[in-house]
Amino acid sequence: MQPNLDDLTWNIDQILDDLDQHGFALIDDAYPEHYVHELSNECTANLNRFRDAAIQNGIVSNIRSDHILWINDELPLAQQHIHQLNQLASGLNRNFFLGIKDIEAHFACYNAGEFYALHRDNPQGKNGRMISSVFYLHEQWQDNWGGELRLQDKHDQWHIISPQPNRVALFQSDLMHEVLLAKHQRLSITAWLRSDQNLF
Ligand code: OGA
Ligand code: MN
Repeated sequence: MQPNLDDLTWNIDQILDDLDQHGFALIDDAYPEHYVHELSNECTANLNRFRDAAIQNGIVSNIRSDHILWINDELPLAQQHIHQLNQLASGLNRNFFLGIKDIEAHFACYNAGEFYALHRDNPQGKNGRMISSVFYLHEQWQDNWGGELRLQDKHDQWHIISPQPNRVALFQSDLMHEVLLAKHQRLSITAWLRSDQNLF
């Protein structure tokens, strides 16, 4: 049975305000516990299909060492998170005229010793990514396990964001950020709200 997420009470006004003021927003306790648990199972059941994120079109980069799996219809629980982000995108379109038309998303797994060095998801507005979203779905996390998201906000202040289970971090895709070395397996869904049509 699929969890019903229709009654979710995200504070959309607060999220929009945080994005507007700082360029990022955090949603803690984003989903019902049982949903996170089942989604986490969906993720781990498919870990053997994840591929090296550093290899794109046969070219290997050393900027990141995590593994990813793009989300499609075969991953129904992950789809529910994308559905929820779609609702949020409507709010962003209404209030900020962002013109979000599409969402692309992948699971990401960082094993101990893995990282993603400093980067922007949309440097110089060269792609359609407007808002980046990361949902942390491992079931526990300890402060000394590293793996923090380090993010520069729109006023150039740096923030260290712990990948707390059931937390969603949203930020403008043009902001600088990195994933610090993880010391324990770290599971997430990264999604991008895009203003163009996704070609995947
Ligand atoms: C990314 C990314 C941040 C995180 O996937 O592009 O920056 O906290 N992820 O996982
Ligand atoms: Mn990124």
